[in-house]
Order: sequence, then structure tokens, then C-alpha cells
Amino acid sequence: MNEADSEEMFLHLSARGAIRTDNLEEADAVLVNTCTVRDHAEHRALSFLGRLMKWKRQNPNRVIIFAGCAAQRLGNSLKKRYPFLNIVSGAKEIEHFADTLDKSGLFSPAQKPTAVASGFSAYATIMRGCNFNCTYCIVPSVRGPVKCLPTQDILQDVTRKAQAGAKEIMLLGQTVNAYQDGNTSFADLLNRVSEIPGIERVRFTSPHPIYFTPQFLQAVKDNPKIARHVHLPVQSGSTKVLREMKRGYTREVFLEKVQALQEHGFNISTDIIVGFPTETEQDFEQTLSLVAKAHFFAAYCFKYSPRQGTPAAQMQLLPQNVLEKRLDILLNQVRDLSEHAYQRQIGTTQEVLMEEPTKGRSSGNFWVQTSRAYPVGNMVRCEIDRAEGTLLFARNEHD
Ligand code: 5AD
Ligand code: SF4
Repeated sequence: MNEADSEEMFLHLSARGAIRTDNLEEADAVLVNTCTVRDHAEHRALSFLGRLMKWKRQNPNRVIIFAGCAAQRLGNSLKKRYPFLNIVSGAKEIEHFADTLDKSGLFSPAQKPTAVASGFSAYATIMRGCNFNCTYCIVPSVRGPVKCLPTQDILQDVTRKAQAGAKEIMLLGQTVNAYQDGNTSFADLLNRVSEIPGIERVRFTSPHPIYFTPQFLQAVKDNPKIARHVHLPVQSGSTKVLREMKRGYTREVFLEKVQALQEHGFNISTDIIVGFPTETEQDFEQTLSLVAKAHFFAAYCFKYSPRQGTPAAQMQLLPQNVLEKRLDILLNQVRDLSEHAYQRQIGTTQEVLMEEPTKGRSSGNFWVQTSRAYPVGNMVRCEIDRAEGTLLFARNEHD
């Protein structure tokens, strides 16, 4: 989501004459798009600002834009602490970023219409914000409640991206499968996006388990353009902890959803938080056992990080060494299971969308290495010959 937001903000800058560079020394302006989901992310953004302070001292005409979720959370305090900031633009203001630039007087007015991102893979934001209130999570307060974009606007956006060369589209939203616009459900939207000429694969992230209904599966099961990958955050394997997190499902319900998705060919990855304040050793064991049962092919695991203003931040923290030990155990288990999941792909036939000359991703989101080079953006059909760690190797390729 942040990558998509950065791209959108960059396109507004580009319409005002900006050219992208990764080299700080040759830049006249820096856009810092920030995350605040864990404390560590915010720290990194602020320590980068420390570096930028020196950069700006070398030439006071240089411009710093601080945007995104940390900007939203820290708000006005930022300009007091960092008076050298030119623009602070919070996550809730992304739709008005062009106005923010114009009002700042720092950029010349737009010289051309805002372009669409080009490339064989493109993002399309379909909703912003979140209506849940998971007790550990800062997102609803920095991104606000759900706002779904009108279906027509999304279809138009994807059509423009397809005309600019996109073959794969990634639909984005904080609880992406809660999408609803009038009579158009998320499943309807997936199907309609996949019908746009040029679109060969549709991905989405991140869904919430409770919106995966039998109706959803029924609606997407015969559409091969919908990628067979779902990133489905579980957060914990203990029903007790899930209740305290206010996730809205039990361990059993989550496993049922996973099973139903897997029966329809979807590969599942997840997010897990270890060390939620009330997590006991038994709760953690429940997470390990859920991970073993669910056959995830990948899992992003995080140590719980208290976020000011969230209900869980009031609770007594577990000692850091407990969090570290649990994270370590979980990561080891995830690595082993992930390697097994890669092994299970051997012998299957896959369609690989090339992201590099000899590497691309299958519909299930597994990385595949081809034996020869193809143009980036080509779809290559192949058999999976072998797996090494979390990389598959192809044979009998043809594009
Ligand atoms: N501490 C640790 N991890 C968190 N996440 C969200 N909030 C926190 C927090 N306070 C994780 C969740 C979510 C992912 C984007 O970040 O696993 O799915
Ligand atoms: Fe945060 Fe929960 Fe919303 Fe996900 S569903 S963004 S974890 S509040």
C-alpha cells in the first residue's frame, strides 16, 4: 500500500516537472513516505530525517516532504521538532496531495496531466482505511474508516494501466475483500478487472478472513486470471488471544477458511504477531500448531510493538527476551514449512510472469527461476523441476 501511495505521490511530482533519482546528492527534493505500524518503522523514518537535516544544511533550498502514516500520527508535533520540514502530508490526505503541492508554492504548476504508472505489474488502490479495531493496531486511527473507490473509477484506472502495458494488477486495500460499491462485491470487481483487455493476472492484498465466504469462492473459482495466492493475516493461533486482539474469528474458523481456499487451489501466506501482552506459552504453542496445520508457504512474523493510543498499549508488556525467543522458534518453524511448500510444487505446471530476465512469479506467488532468459513481462509456461530453499527451478519452458 505504501509503495502504491509513493508511486501516486511521485506521479503528482512528475506532472510538476520532477524527475526520479535515488541519489540524494543530486536531488532537489526528497519525498519520505512513512509507516507507523510498528515503532521500529517510525524510528527508521525519523532517523532518516536526522540525515536529511544535514543534507538540507548544505543547501537550504532543498525540499523535504514527509508523508504517510507516521506523518499522520505525529501531525503538528513534527514541524516543531523538525522545523526544516517543508511539507507534512498525513496518510489521510493522500487524495489531496496534488493540492498540497500546489498550495506549498514550492513546485511549478502541473505542466501535463498526471500520468499512470507504467510497467508490466501495476497497483490499483480500491479502498482506503479500516473499519476494524484490532486492539494492537494503529492503522484505523492513522488511515481512518473504510472508503471504497467507485467501481467505474477503478475499472477506468486499470484500463489506463493496461493500455500503458500492465499485465498484472494488484488490487490494494487494508481489508481489500470488504470492498463493496452499490451492488458490486469484491468478487464481482475481481472478475470485472480480469476482463479488461491486456490483463492476464489479478492479485489482491490484504484480505480479512471473515469476508471469505462460500459465495466468494463460487464467484472466483472458474476464473484462472485470479492469482492462486491469498495473503491472509492470522496474527495468532490462540482463540483466546484472537479474542483479546478483537480479530473477529476463532482459530477453528480461520483454519476452515484456509481449507476452503486451499480446496480451490489458493496458496496461503500470513502475518503473525508474537508476544501480544496476554500471550502465554500455551497460546504461543497454539500459534505453532496452527502454522503446522495451515501449510502456509510464507509467513511474516513480527514481535508485538505497543502503539500509543491503541487499547493493547495499556497492557503490561512481556519481557523482550520472551518475544525474541518466541520469534526465533516461530521463524525456524516457518522456514522449514515454507521449504516443504516449495517442495510440493515439484512436478506441477505453472505460468510464470517474468519479473527479471530469468526469474518470475507463479500464480501462487512462488519464485521460479527459468533455464534461459525471457523478456520481462512475458508469461512463461513451465514444469517445476526442483526446489532449493524458497526458489523453484523450471523445465520444459515455452512462452
Ligand atoms: N505490533 C506488531 N505487529 C503489528 N502488526 C500490526 N500492528 C502491529 C503491532 N502493534 C502487523 C500485523 C499486520 C502487519 C501489517 O503488521 O501482523 O498484519
Ligand atoms: Fe489493523 Fe485489524 Fe484493520 Fe488489519 S484489520 S488494518 S490489523 S485494525
